[in-house]
Amino acid sequence: MTLLAIETSCDETSAAVVSGARVLSNAVSSQIQLHAEYGGVVPELAAREHLRNLMPVVQTALREAGVSAGQLDAIAATQGPGLPLALLVGFKAAQALAFVLQKPFVGINHHEAHLYSPWIAGSPPVADFAAFQPNVSLIVSGGHTILVQVEAELKHRVLGSTLDDAAGECFDKTGKLMGLPYPAGPGIDRLAQSGNAEAFDFPRPLIHDANDDFSFSGLKTSVRYFIRDHPELLEDSQKIRDLCASIQAAIIGVLVSKTIRATQRLGLRCVTASGGVTCNSALRRELARACTARGFKLRLAEKSLCTDNAAMIGILAERKLAHHHPWSALDEEIKTNWALA
Ligand code: KG4
Ligand code: ZN
Repeated sequence: MTLLAIETSCDETSAAVVSGARVLSNAVSSQIQLHAEYGGVVPELAAREHLRNLMPVVQTALREAGVSAGQLDAIAATQGPGLPLALLVGFKAAQALAFVLQKPFVGINHHEAHLYSPWIAGSPPVADFAAFQPNVSLIVSGGHTILVQVEAELKHRVLGSTLDDAAGECFDKTGKLMGLPYPAGPGIDRLAQSGNAEAFDFPRPLIHDANDDFSFSGLKTSVRYFIRDHPELLEDSQKIRDLCASIQAAIIGVLVSKTIRATQRLGLRCVTASGGVTCNSALRRELARACTARGFKLRLAEKSLCTDNAAMIGILAERKLAHHHPWSALDEEIKTNWALA
């Protein structure tokens, strides 16, 4: 089966061609530069940019895969959650394409797709479901921080999620307080590498709570007050590096600790992670260290697949069709707040 997938839920316009668990192409056009000027994603601008970029991105994906529209067996698109105007662009285009080609159409939950991106690896990338095993999956991005128990393929339950800010949002907002450009996560990651993570002691919210939820707004506020009371720190480049390392250590400490604890409690032996914050070098290192110490298997999404992409949408759609999941109707609506169950 050869399938075209489209992802436009936030600020990446992406199209991928997937065939037999192989990713034949994964074209991504990022809007980061456009939104950086505003310090965050502007939904109206994102939708206009998707409108401009979608067809070139789809054409690139088909060309790179060496596949013509007529050779497609199915079409998939992100149905939610996401920014309404942004979702509409990709979802409606995909439905129209499925209508014209008279092929099955599958609407995909963006977060469910993230659960499968850690299983896609190699060059060319292939989804390795032979190695699949029940796992605790951390989805951690600018909009979401979710911990999920994946019991089997297409079978999962949400263990916990953020009660307020997402981890990526905490990176971005605390970075802004230090004068770093949006999105600040990659900048904090880079500066933290030559900083002292023990220089400043920031709170690690909910780290000892028995539940699997997260909360990052208290940490952000604590950083805001600290910088307000010590503005001179921002005059010293080493102190900025120390701040970055200390903030990052607080965020990563919570993410790693809660992920490992849930895995132990559930008696599972496999951890996976995806979403933009999974690009963070300290998170990758600390998760690897914690998993190795306990004999857990760790599957981190490759960096290019951590951020939003259509390959993961296509891989999940293919699994769904293989498991005889019903097709989506061509007049179905987007599901802006489609929460993972
Ligand atoms: O998944 P993503 O591209 O978009 C959504 O939010 O859905 O994630 C973007 C987030 C931003 O908050 C960005 O700062 C964060 O991922 N991020 C990082 C790193 N790379 C991206 N955070 C920490 N360290 C990084 N290396
Ligand atoms: Zn995402």
